[in-house]
Amino acid sequence: MRGTLIVCAEVAELWREAARRIVAAIHQHSEERFTLALSGGSTPRPLYELLASEEWRGRIPWTKLHLFWSDERLVPLDHPESNYRMAREALLRHVPVPAENIHSVPVHLAIEEAAQQYEREIRTFFRVRRGPPAFDLILLGLGADGHTASLFPGSPALAELQRWVAPVRSAKAMPRVTLTVPVLNQARRLFFLAVGEEKAAALEQASTGRDDGCPAARVAPRKGELIWLVDRAAASRLTRVRVEG
Ligand code: 6PG
Repeated sequence: MRGTLIVCAEVAELWREAARRIVAAIHQHSEERFTLALSGGSTPRPLYELLASEEWRGRIPWTKLHLFWSDERLVPLDHPESNYRMAREALLRHVPVPAENIHSVPVHLAIEEAAQQYEREIRTFFRVRRGPPAFDLILLGLGADGHTASLFPGSPALAELQRWVAPVRSAKAMPRVTLTVPVLNQARRLFFLAVGEEKAAALEQASTGRDDGCPAARVAPRKGELIWLVDRAAASRLTRVRVEG
């Protein structure tokens, strides 16, 4: 398995371990800004709530953080399906991240314009001319079909190697924009979060690194740290993993 696999028996311990690693990454970071791309979906909500809790929020220099999203649904920011709304309810409204440090996706734009505008915002922020930007930490979830962010099996966005933000059009799901594989693989750190039996097959496939239709298997940071933070149920099909350390 590429990267480091952390399997926790209790989901509550999984979130404490994830929080510990996030806090450590921020404190080890020498630059004045720490760029964190948040995952959407439902999995990370308890982690965001933990980071916002009395016990943890005092451990993070929130004014140092710049928050982005790994992907977003093109719905209003107060829509129940909005990844921004979930993060705002679970985390943002409880911690002092300056408003100008919150880089939400311009969901009011049409899908192509939203992707282009978000990429422009990332280019302006990171001030990089060539090559994808290196986020200090990207959080990703895992779909039962092996998708991550909004990179779905067989989607043009998954195959996109030039753009940093791609539009995701689907007859089945709501329109989205997503960070692309080159950006994910430029991250300094990348944490996958997976909980539950329904993610076991996808995690097993992703762990092989075999790129046979499993988008998460394409995520392999070139130089960055890759950590899989999972519970026992999600890890239940990882039979051939070499335990290190
Ligand atoms: C999204 C997420 C997506 C999510 C997976 C897992 O916008 O839906 O970015 O990639 O992480 O679909 O979703 P759950 O965490 O809800 O299982």
